[in-house]
Amino acid sequence: MVRKTFLLSGIAGLMISAGADGAKKPSIGPLPDKPPEPKDNPTTPVKVELGKLLYFDPRLSGDGSVSCATCHDPNQGWAKKRVMSPAYPENKHFRHSPTVLNVAFNTLMFWDGRVKTLEEQAEKPIASPFEMNMNYDLLEERLKAIPEYRKLFKKAFPNEREPITIKNIAKAIAAFERTIVCNDSPFDKYMRGDSNAMDELQIKGMKLFVGKAGCVQCHNGPNFTDNKFHVTGVPKSRVEDQPLVAATRNFVLRQAGFRNPERIDRDLGRFFLTGNKKDKGSFKTPTLRNVALTPPYMHNGVFKTLEEVVDFYDKGGGKVPNKDRRLKPLNLTDEEKEALVAFLEALTCENVPYVEEPELPPYEGETKVKKGGR
Ligand code: HEC
Ligand code: HEC
Repeated sequence: MVRKTFLLSGIAGLMISAGADGAKKPSIGPLPDKPPEPKDNPTTPVKVELGKLLYFDPRLSGDGSVSCATCHDPNQGWAKKRVMSPAYPENKHFRHSPTVLNVAFNTLMFWDGRVKTLEEQAEKPIASPFEMNMNYDLLEERLKAIPEYRKLFKKAFPNEREPITIKNIAKAIAAFERTIVCNDSPFDKYMRGDSNAMDELQIKGMKLFVGKAGCVQCHNGPNFTDNKFHVTGVPKSRVEDQPLVAATRNFVLRQAGFRNPERIDRDLGRFFLTGNKKDKGSFKTPTLRNVALTPPYMHNGVFKTLEEVVDFYDKGGGKVPNKDRRLKPLNLTDEEKEALVAFLEALTCENVPYVEEPELPPYEGETKVKKGGR
């Protein structure tokens, strides 16, 4: 069989092969400098400034104790190094907290991809009873009681009579998230032509990634995701049996219309949205950029290290009947496994954007914001 090859990356020369039919296989590549932005929410400096304050402001939560940064922490790769995400007080989360770094390049949000844009996404945790537990109308009124916010919303949304709305709160946060991006990883540099940016082991890992190990079948495109859903058979995490984790999962199931949630003892991903058997255990392919910064791994944080993740794929994924057919035992040698991990580490930016917690504006008549809410 004749195999054609394409030279995809200019000078750096990552060869990606095409099938005998000449059909181009999916590939990986460098990220552009700027993520796309929607026409109705252009990224402006004042909107980004406002979005930054809102991102860090725990007063967006019911009891003033939880902000976006609580669960997507700039000090922890913009994710959280815990098996399960933090949650609103007295609750436990049932999913691991993903990073918001470079999330602006994705077209599906959440592990189950239930929303598509950052604007839609940002509203959700605010209202979620186990995340920020806040009511939108009350939040709008609360922010109106903060003079600096009144000023900033007016500037960021100059054509609106009453700019403090949940939609604009979400727009400002989304604009801020579009600035939490980076594309200066060794891999990006290599792809742009600096052949010394990755070492030999990393290059070997990249070749395995697009070749023998078949990772590129799902982790492709500049953000290493096909923006699709797959059943990989990730094993259950012990934590999923904790009563309060189960309580949150049961709550989510009841909200989705399931009548006997207690019969389901683990997170089944898209199945919770569609009720479709083939979606049992189906999750979005996550980005792999900066993945070394954000252990543990998978929707339920079941793997502590990248080595464990690679071992999982080496075995051909988990043991579930509806597993994606792309996953097969790989028979990787120890050195090949090491190379794959080295390549995943080459996806870490040199300058990961860091934003210091800003000083938050106080309520009218007060001089400062009390730590951790009021
Ligand atoms: C209490 C913890 C918590 C808080 C607070 C929180 N999040 Fe999240 N966030 C999560 C978890 C957990 C997920 C994944 C949930 C899922 O897939 O169902 C997530 C998912 C996301 C995603 C999708 C990422 C992806 O790759 O799919 C974005 C973007 C995001 N959050 C941004 C925000 C913003 C903005 C705020 C503040 C308005 C916020 N989050 C508040 C825990 C939190
Ligand atoms: C069939 C599609 C598919 C293939 C092939 C695949 N993955 Fe994945 N990958 C996924 C999905 C889906 C998830 C999320 C699964 C979950 O959370 O339950 C994931 C998760 C991951 C994660 C965890 C990311 C995080 O932030 O938690 C890593 C790391 C990863 N894959 C690396 C690889 C490597 C390395 C290969 C090749 C050996 C590979 N993947 C092959 C679909 C795939």
